[in-house]
This record gives sequence, C-alpha cells and structure tokens, in this order.
Amino acid sequence: MDRALRLAALADGGTSPNPLVGAVVLDARGQLVAEGFHRRAGEPHAEALALARAGDRARGGTLFVTLEPCCHHGRTPPCTDAVLAAAPARVVVAMADPDPRVAGRGLERLRAAGLTVVEGVRRPEALRLNSAFVHRVQQGRPEGWLKWAASADGRTALPNGASQWISGAPARDWVHGLRSRCDAVIIGGGTLRADDPLLTSRGRRDPEPLRVVLSRHLDLPRQAQLWDLSVAPTLVAHGREADGDGLAWLEALGIERLPLPVASPLALLQALAARGCNRVLWECGPALAAAALRQGCVQQLAVVQAPLLLGGAAARTALGDLGLEDLAAAPRLQDLGLTSLGHDRLWRLALPSPPPRRPEPELMEGDEQAAAYAAADFSVEDGALVDRFAVLAGEAWGDGQGRAVLDLGCGPGNICERLARRWPAARVLGLDGAAAMLAIAEERRCRADPPLVGLAYRQVTFPLDPMATASLKAEGPWDGVVSNSVLHHLHEPAVFWQTLRDLAPPGALLLLRDLRRPADEDQRRALVQRHAASAPAVLRHDFAASLAAAFTPAEVEAQLLRAGLTGLQVRPLGDRHLEVWGPLP
Ligand SMILES: NC(=O)c1ccc[n+]([C@@H]2O[C@H](COP(=O)([O-])OP(=O)(O)OC[C@H]3O[C@@H](n4cnc5c(N)ncnc54)[C@H](OP(=O)(O)O)[C@@H]3O)[C@@H](O)[C@H]2O)c1
Repeated sequence: MDRALRLAALADGGTSPNPLVGAVVLDARGQLVAEGFHRRAGEPHAEALALARAGDRARGGTLFVTLEPCCHHGRTPPCTDAVLAAAPARVVVAMADPDPRVAGRGLERLRAAGLTVVEGVRRPEALRLNSAFVHRVQQGRPEGWLKWAASADGRTALPNGASQWISGAPARDWVHGLRSRCDAVIIGGGTLRADDPLLTSRGRRDPEPLRVVLSRHLDLPRQAQLWDLSVAPTLVAHGREADGDGLAWLEALGIERLPLPVASPLALLQALAARGCNRVLWECGPALAAAALRQGCVQQLAVVQAPLLLGGAAARTALGDLGLEDLAAAPRLQDLGLTSLGHDRLWRLALPSPPPRRPEPELMEGDEQAAAYAAADFSVEDGALVDRFAVLAGEAWGDGQGRAVLDLGCGPGNICERLARRWPAARVLGLDGAAAMLAIAEERRCRADPPLVGLAYRQVTFPLDPMATASLKAEGPWDGVVSNSVLHHLHEPAVFWQTLRDLAPPGALLLLRDLRRPADEDQRRALVQRHAASAPAVLRHDFAASLAAAFTPAEVEAQLLRAGLTGLQVRPLGDRHLEVWGPLP
C-alpha cells in the first residue's frame, strides 16, 4: 500500500476533479506483477491500468488500491467491472470513496461477488494524500491553501506597497512547486494592481494552474502579465458591482470572466468547485486573505519568513481584520513543521476544520439575488470598525445630542445586528436597493442570537420617491439610517446625498465606504471633500491606497475646522483607513 500511495502522489495537482489513486497488483504467490496510477481525468483509473498490465497474472492474486474502486459509469467504465474480470482473490483498499456515487457501494459489489475485501490499510495517509478531493466532495468547495512571505518583523510589503521580493530564490522556487499542486492560484485586485504577478508554476505543471483575479469593481490595470494567455489561462471573477468599462475591455482582451452572485471568497470557491478544482492557492494580499479565512476558505497556511526588517507602522501585514473580539476565539493552528528554504524559514500550519455551515434562510425560489446575499458574510466584515462606529452612534443617541447616518457597503444586516445588540431601544432605518436583499437581511435579523428585541427596524428600497421620503420622515426621528454605498454607485450621487439629507436628522455622521465613483480620482476626492464640508463628520475607509496618500488626516482636519467642527479627532487607521470621531455637536 505504501508503494501504491507513492505512485498516486506522482500525479499530485494533475487529476482534478478526480482523486489521486495508485494501485499495485501481486500474483497468487505474492510477487509484484504490475502497478499504475491515475494521471489525469479522462485517462484510465489506477486499478484498471494496473490490472490490464497484470493480465492473467492478477487471477487469484491481490490488488492494493489507495481508494475504493468506482462502481458507476463516468468518463471511464466502472473499475469494479475491471476488478471482477481480472479476478484477484483479495482487494485491499486504503479508504472508501467519499463521492456519494460510490460511498461503499464499490466494495459491497466486490464482496457480493465473493472477493475478500480489506478496507482501511494506511487510511490516515490516504486521507492526507486526497485531502483536497475529500474536501471538495464533502464541503462543495476546493481545499484552500494560503501562502504569504513576510519579513522577520511580520510585514508583507513596504509602506509604499512594494513586496517583490521579500523571500529568496529557493523559497520562490518552492512556491512554483506549490502552485503546480494546485488547480487555481487566486489573488485580489489589490495584488494585481500592486505587484503585476505572473503566478505560474514556471512549467512544472501542464497545463499551468488557472490564474484567478477576484475583483469587485474591475478597476484593473490594462497592462498586466496575467493578460498574456499564451503563458497560462486567466479568469477574472467579479460581483454584480463590476464596472461596465471593466467588463468591456476584459471582453476585448478575450479574458474569461466569471460573474458571481457576490464577490466573496466562498462564492468564488463554489464556482471553482463546479469547474472541477480540488485545490486552490490563495496568494492574495491582506484584504482578501482575511476574507477567505473568515469564510472558512483556507485549510492550510504556508508562511515564508525572511531574515529582513521592513518596519513602518503603516506597512502591510499578512491579514486584514478577522473580526475577532476575544483572544480566546482566535483560531489555534496545528503546527505541521518548520523547514528552511535557503535563508528563509517555511512554517506550515493547518486550520481547524470549517464549522458546520449555518442553515441559510429560506430563499425565494430562483431568486439569484437572494442567494447571493445568503452566501455573503454579513456578520464579520469590517467588524471592529463597525463596532466602534456603533459605540460612537450609540453614545451620541444616549446624550440625546445627535443622530447617526451610516452608509455601509457590506449589507445592512451587519450594522443593524451590532447596533441592536448594543442599543436595543434604537430605531434604525435601512435603505437598500433590492427587495430580495431586504428579505434576507430581515430574516437574518430575526435569527440573530441573542434575538434582537427592541429594535424598530424598517427597510425601504432605494431610490425613494418624494412621497415615500416624506412619510418616512414623518415616522422618524430615526436614530440611524443604514444604507449601502452600492446605492451611491448605482444611482445619481445627487439623489443619494439628497435622500440622506432629507432623512438624516441634524448633526448627522456619515460613513463612506469603498467609494469608487466617479472613476476619476480627483473628482472622487472633490466629492468627499464637499461632503466633509457640509456634513458634521465623515468617516471614510477602504479607499484606494493612492487616494489615501492624497487625502491625509491633516486635510480632513482642515475641512472639519472649516465646517466649524473643532471637537472631532482624525486618526489614520492602518494605511487605508481613516477615522473621524468625537463628541457630535
Ligand atoms: N508578501 C506577500 O506574500 C504578498 C502577497 C500578495 C500581496 N501582497 C501585497 O499586498 C498588497 C495588496 O493588498 P490587498 O489587500 O489590496 O490585496 P488583495 O487582498 O489581493 O486584493 C484586495 C482586493 O480583492 C478584491 N476583493 C473582491 N472581493 C473581496 C472580498 N470579499 N474581500 C476582500 N477583497 C475582495 C477587491 O478588488 P477590487 O479592488 O479590484 O474590487 C479588493 O480590493 C500589495 O502591497 C502586495 O504587494 C503581499
């Protein structure tokens, strides 16, 4: 069986969506007469190949195979037929096939035909070998590996974003090998813009792994190594907020697009599983890496640590916010070992298995949008920031001094849950763009644990007509207005801002998130500054790094001073976030 496992491993990374399988045939005297392994989908299965090579010599002998022989017609005929035809006396398998089309039925068939079947020999090793296949079959998504290279002081890029190369040549060579064991290599739009990576196995895998970019907005560089499809295939996955221009030029370049119901790691992996990927490698920056971890899309970590110091409080670290509020809740990793790669150290770690998925709310049949929002992870996105905002808003309400307007891009369920937990008597109005999303958000609110009692929570669909605005105003005053910045992108900005002003009580606090329109950076900056001048406070975060540099805390402070708001503090929050807060006037 050890030999069969070693044979199976020779095809690592090449058999998807199929598992890795190796087989060895002994004749009736116990002599090794043939062996084989499954090379790639569509080609013969290991046991069929080994038995064909053994011919008559298999009769009365023993077949060792690392996975239960299949008993269904796929791209090749059932292997149980080949086993029965070859007529060994004994079949020894390492593990049953978790594929529901097989799941023990192959072994039953062999036993029913009178063969001696031994199951479970070297099972842990076989499970380890096929962890990716088993994960896809059981979880409906590929196994995820996440790799990053960091300096000795834990930085993954310089404060200016440069990160090539932190690790040395031997480590980079090892990463090429790692890619060759994966069906897809995934980065986010941020890494594409910063690094222009090539992401190939440098010929170690044929075909090269699929290079995948996940982007919400498709604000991607027109020139990039990934667009050269003669080197390797590239796929750009995006959500519904994708920019029309971005769609058009990708089409013109002939780059395959994968529209997702929502731009989330989980939705991407579900789509990649449907394309037959068993294992993916996340080679993204901190934003997407954190999102992938939060959604249970990472099973193993490969941390390359280089003997370098990068320094800088604003320099990037490997992970964005994981939404943790309690150290005891931090995931404890299993140590898989430390090795050297030239001057660098490689630390391999495994994450605990993903928790059972929460039952989804019942969806309106066929409603894609509802499905999209059910798949989205509302509960943890930007958790710490939203929490702080909830505290701030609630403090203001507590004094009876102010009201809050919140504009969030991550769905109203998030902020409403947090507000309601902290301030159970608050009255919050949610503005949103799609009826289906409202239904889901409402559903989630009802299922929240602890139950969200006491929150008066109304949601309406945007844009509002003047009558609706007037009647909503009459129902107020609202303690909070929660909106989705996608609205700002989809609708005329003037309408968006006017509606907020109409509904917002005096002393409003605005939170702008992920502002992408207008496309021109100067215009974007002017827009924010205009609102910084007319609103008491603007809290802005997750804006493009280049804009962050141009829009300094000092500039915001100057705007606030001009608006007569002297009591507010402006603080950078990492290198991409800016916080403005303090006692509301
Ligand atoms: N040292 C290393 O190992 C290493 C590896 C990779 C990157 N880096 C560094 O990391 C920096 C880039 O960081 P980054 O965080 O911007 O890169 P990233 O995580 O690769 O990309 C973030 C982008 O992913 C897209 N995205 C789509 N859905 C998302 C979701 N649900 N959650 C989060 N993001 C989503 C968005 O793209 P759009 O903005 O296009 O919509 C988002 O801006 C660069 O300095 C790079 O050099 C270092």
